Amino acid sequence: MENTNTATSERVSILDQTPSLNSLRSSAVSSNTVPVTLYINGAEHTLQIDPRVTLLDVLREYIGLTGTKKGCDHGQCGACTVLVEGHRINSCLALAVSYDREQITTIEGLAEGEDLHPVQEAFLQHDAFQCGYCTPGQIMSAVGLLLEGNAKTDAEIKEQMSGNICRCGAYANILAAVRECNNQQNSNASAPQAK
Ligand code: FES
Ligand code: FES
Repeated sequence: MENTNTATSERVSILDQTPSLNSLRSSAVSSNTVPVTLYINGAEHTLQIDPRVTLLDVLREYIGLTGTKKGCDHGQCGACTVLVEGHRINSCLALAVSYDREQITTIEGLAEGEDLHPVQEAFLQHDAFQCGYCTPGQIMSAVGLLLEGNAKTDAEIKEQMSGNICRCGAYANILAAVRECNNQQNSNASAPQAK
């Protein structure tokens, strides 16, 4: 008959020599970090991060800029929208290391001192939010839309904002806010230039 006491004591001694899962994880993470420099709202941030960390998590967890929201974390809701070099992206789908030395703008970077960005003003004037959770992403997406300059009609605004979901259903007022900024931009563009 097998001596189970011996088998058990051998198992214990092997387990005693085996590093814990947590220590394996932390040594794997610390030995696999890479440096990255991000320019966020004009400020330089140099970090040592795991290359698998998303830009959204860097903004929220490493830098403390929690204005950018995590909704689905799967590229479905647009709550995490930020601008990279003026182009809007879903930061939950973006690896931070991919944006080394690039300019990133978040909702915290739009206002100039006490002066809100025109899109922020328009959202306030048109009451374009309820709970506000989607609002930073909506505003950043609208700023991106204006920079792209391709929307001429309500249908085009709706299509180009369709990546941003609002669970409260504030779409009519969001559209009104974006429309006002878009019309203003288009009329400025078509106004005769002073000689
Ligand atoms: S949190 Fe990024 S798209 Fe939803
Ligand atoms: S205002 Fe609540 S999710 Fe849009």
